[in-house]
Amino acid sequence: MSTNITASALLEIARDVALTAGELVVRRRAEGVTVADLKSSPVDVVTAADRECETLIRSLLADARPDDGFFGEEGAEDLGTSGLTWIVDPIDGTVNYLYNIPHYAISIAVVSGGVDPLTWTAIAGCVLNPVSGEIYTATAGGGAFLGEELISPAPAVELSQALVGTGFSYSAETRAEQGAIVAALLPEVRDIRRFGAASLDICAVASGRLNAYYERGLSPWDHAAAALIAREAGASVVGWNGQPPSKELLIAGELSVERALTKRLVATVI
Ligand code: IPD
Ligand code: CA
Ligand code: CA
Repeated sequence: MSTNITASALLEIARDVALTAGELVVRRRAEGVTVADLKSSPVDVVTAADRECETLIRSLLADARPDDGFFGEEGAEDLGTSGLTWIVDPIDGTVNYLYNIPHYAISIAVVSGGVDPLTWTAIAGCVLNPVSGEIYTATAGGGAFLGEELISPAPAVELSQALVGTGFSYSAETRAEQGAIVAALLPEVRDIRRFGAASLDICAVASGRLNAYYERGLSPWDHAAAALIAREAGASVVGWNGQPPSKELLIAGELSVERALTKRLVATVI
């Protein structure tokens, strides 16, 4: 790390900012939410709360850490000068938020080495469900927690016994491909879950609520904090062809489950 601040101190900042942002999004949800704009497709929506939340997080982080970079879903990227960058999804699970399904998250991570998940090193991260109040946290080398409790993935199971989470793109064309892959996987596993917030899905692997999770097409802010949390919990989190997770692919699970799922998915895709 290129500055003297500890990972725990960075995590404290992330946690405080996430809790403040969480209060805002829950308040805005109670006031009523409508679509403010469309992004990559007619079903890829942004609400005013997504933008307001990111603006709030950005300004709180800038107050606490003026030299750090910022890379969030809804605004322009700022590289900063400290070598540290905050990777932020202001509301992960926006469609759940729109429909008032109480399963969405604020995801805040701090990384060194830039904004590319293939090369960055995650230092600290937190994922907060502001409705349930559940907060997942981790620092590099410091373990992973759900609230105050140290977490770990579910024990090894055969793939046929694995409960597997996944998610789908906002592009209809990509969804058709994803649907074919999940259809081939479904008879091979216990069952499939699509909860609608990638950060919480990956944290569910970290805490043993899912045996595994995979998705193609994730953005850096979807997994920056959660991948660190899952790794620190003891899960294996990988991408395509042995690389770190990226837009290409993210697979998370207890090591033997992740390996079995990876083998199965590679066989389906090729
Ligand atoms: C989405 C959610 C969803 C996943 C999508 C993401 P957003 O994030 O995490 O579960 O399947 O790939 O884009 O748009 O709600 O921030
Ligand atoms: Ca997201
Ligand atoms: Ca989002």
